[in-house]
Amino acid sequence: MSPIESGQRPLLRFLTCGSVDDGKSTLIGRLLFDAGVLPEDVLETLARDSRRVGTQGEALDYALLLDGLEAEREQGITIDVAYRYFSTAERSFIVADCPGHEQYTRNMATGASQSELAVVLVDASKGLLTQTRRHTMICALLGIHHVLLTVNKMDRVGYEEEVFRAIESSFLDLAGELGVPEVRCLPVSALHGDHVVHRSVQMPWYSGPTLLEALQTIEIVDHSLAAPMRLPVQWVNRPHADFRGYCGTLVSGNVARGDAVIVLPSGRRTTVQQVLGVDGDIACAQSGQAVTLCLDEEIDISRGDVIAAASGPPEVSDQFACHLLWMGESPLLPGRPYQLRLGTQTALAQVTEIRHRLDINTGQQLAARHLELNEVGVCHLSLDQPVTFEPYAKSRALGGLVLIDRISNATVAAGMLDFALRRAANIHWQHLDVDQTTRATQKGQHPRCIWFTGLSGAGKSSIANALEKRLFALGHHTYLLDGDNVRHGLNRDLGFTSEDRVENIRRVAEVARLMVDAGLIVLVSFISPYRADRRMARELFAGDEFIEVFVDTPLEVCERRDVKGLYAKARAGDLANFTGVNAPYEAPQSPEIHLHAEQSDPPALAETIVGWIVAD
Ligand code: ADX
Repeated sequence: MSPIESGQRPLLRFLTCGSVDDGKSTLIGRLLFDAGVLPEDVLETLARDSRRVGTQGEALDYALLLDGLEAEREQGITIDVAYRYFSTAERSFIVADCPGHEQYTRNMATGASQSELAVVLVDASKGLLTQTRRHTMICALLGIHHVLLTVNKMDRVGYEEEVFRAIESSFLDLAGELGVPEVRCLPVSALHGDHVVHRSVQMPWYSGPTLLEALQTIEIVDHSLAAPMRLPVQWVNRPHADFRGYCGTLVSGNVARGDAVIVLPSGRRTTVQQVLGVDGDIACAQSGQAVTLCLDEEIDISRGDVIAAASGPPEVSDQFACHLLWMGESPLLPGRPYQLRLGTQTALAQVTEIRHRLDINTGQQLAARHLELNEVGVCHLSLDQPVTFEPYAKSRALGGLVLIDRISNATVAAGMLDFALRRAANIHWQHLDVDQTTRATQKGQHPRCIWFTGLSGAGKSSIANALEKRLFALGHHTYLLDGDNVRHGLNRDLGFTSEDRVENIRRVAEVARLMVDAGLIVLVSFISPYRADRRMARELFAGDEFIEVFVDTPLEVCERRDVKGLYAKARAGDLANFTGVNAPYEAPQSPEIHLHAEQSDPPALAETIVGWIVAD
């Protein structure tokens, strides 16, 4: 068993932030070398490489100990975060080495979310930089309580105390403002080894710990041990009818046979019958351990549920205030659904509001309608189902989330839940006796949403109009929602930016849903250029209720017709964000109906859809 597992030497996970110029590689290399934790063969390679390619003349170039990784980065091999493990007599360490440039913010966030402490590096000759603020702010956001500001290259400023004190004082102000509770500042020279592992004769004015002493002695309290028990269920083990165990890693507290527990989000209560560890039956297990729990009663529990101490359960909600660090190449658009993962739980999440964006470099709160790569926003989230959670400040495991783009499958955000929005808890679904089936039966029809999508001028409205006339003549109850018309009323506050179009589609899809609930056959004729938003609309309806009709008219044809003169305006540069000209149109990949509108007239095309609707 490794020291980490046996708990003989406590483990400290820390990350290092700073750019290459600050001497980060040299500092970590020097730390490993002076601490005497490097194996013989690594030392031999270091001596050889230093002579061959080093930058320090005859002396050892400690940066080379880490440069292998940097070389890989330069070759474009993505190393999200490089982890190094080392241990001294007092402690074991895992260092997450995160690249400092702005484009690596997501990597830094990954490293920070798993660390208890951050070593933030500054160059004594440069002082605090915008980047120092950015690194510290991300650390604070991701719940790092301990920051060691390492003022490096003290040799370059003559080991002057005043230089160090000035940097220290500004950093303490900054850390206070950002809410980092524990801060220490150290003057070092990684190059000469001052105050890295050995005390420096150059800086007698400094009586604090060296970097290694600080790392070895800083007290890290694991709050998860004293917190109430939480077990996010990863897997239900049911080898045969007589055994059912719920497996996962305890993220806080401890659990013993006979403990009263609550299962969330269902709220069912029961008692622990048996606790199983890796080697079988155990009396008790604590935070960090992988366990299987057997419960007294047979309750329907699946992956994503949380088993918790009945006396202090976490909360359950489907609406939140949270901080989001956006990592997507394309911006966050409010109203668009993303896949949310919170531990083992999943849901669909929409940002309903960006309260403000935080300028990472200045800390200012700015108004924002979307979030771009590396931006941080305070947002409201709305989920399609409730999840079990705790504020991130209390529990990283139950408060830290990621958002995933449903089309590219890329992780586009890291999020920290702040609190549940109470308004969600106070709104209940009202049961009504007259329902969709009753209304549909009265009208003698199958309610549907016929969704027309295509370029402006493709012929959507003409075909929808012809279709409605035919359905009306056949005695059906219909309504036609047309983009231009709805934009005169309900959506008159919306323009044509991506975020406005997402909201435009969200609203009209909700209206169409109400109309289908009212028993109507609803025709929606909107450009609806984004695949993700048409998918969102589709998901509001039952399987066969939504029929997507792609009115596929080539751009040249639409432009030649140019009934409203808008293509000419867009080409002349007088109309921004015009679909097909200077804004994208994402064609449907598998619409229920695909019409080639330039080959037929609207009544004939409408007739093909009538067949589809009237067939059942
Ligand atoms: S959508 O993209 O948000 O679905 P919607 O269908 O509501 O668009 O509105 C499209 C109509 O608005 C077009 O038929 C056109 O008449 C008009 N329009 C005005 N400006 C634009 C623009 N920039 N892009 C597309 N359509 C525009």
